Amino acid sequence: MEYSEKVMDHFMHPRNVGEIEDASGVGTVGNAKCGDIMKVYLKIEDGIIQDAKFKTFGCGAAVATSSMATELIKGRTIEEALKLTNKAVMEALDGLPKVKVHCSVLAEEALRAALWDYAKTNNIKIEGLEPPKEDDDLDHHDLFDEE
Ligand code: FES
Repeated sequence: MEYSEKVMDHFMHPRNVGEIEDASGVGTVGNAKCGDIMKVYLKIEDGIIQDAKFKTFGCGAAVATSSMATELIKGRTIEEALKLTNKAVMEALDGLPKVKVHCSVLAEEALRAALWDYAKTNNIKIEGLEPPKEDDDLDHHDLFDEE
């Protein structure tokens, strides 16, 4: 079988799908390879990630990795969340097929973009956090707002 049981579980029963209305930071990124989109919402209080949710127009691997990534960062500090790489998320899922590795990057980048948004809004500097890549093709924000 190509996908681990954990990947299948998080794909079939994704955790933390949805949005946070009064989010502290929101990040949207697109994947240049497949054109899929990921949006991550974070609720941050006293430097701790109290809640994390996501929405995606992405494949099963993107759903599974964002489900796992949001689970892993809840209750963690910003610094801890920054250290969460797509590799760590893949390991927590017992691996992903090689062709699906880029999907896990989408979750990591959206998380960082949401942290960046939080830092910008609150005018703080988060050590080691790079600004999200500008993506001119990313004019699909309205896709998420049509509900
Ligand atoms: Fe696009 Fe996986 S194929 S996120």
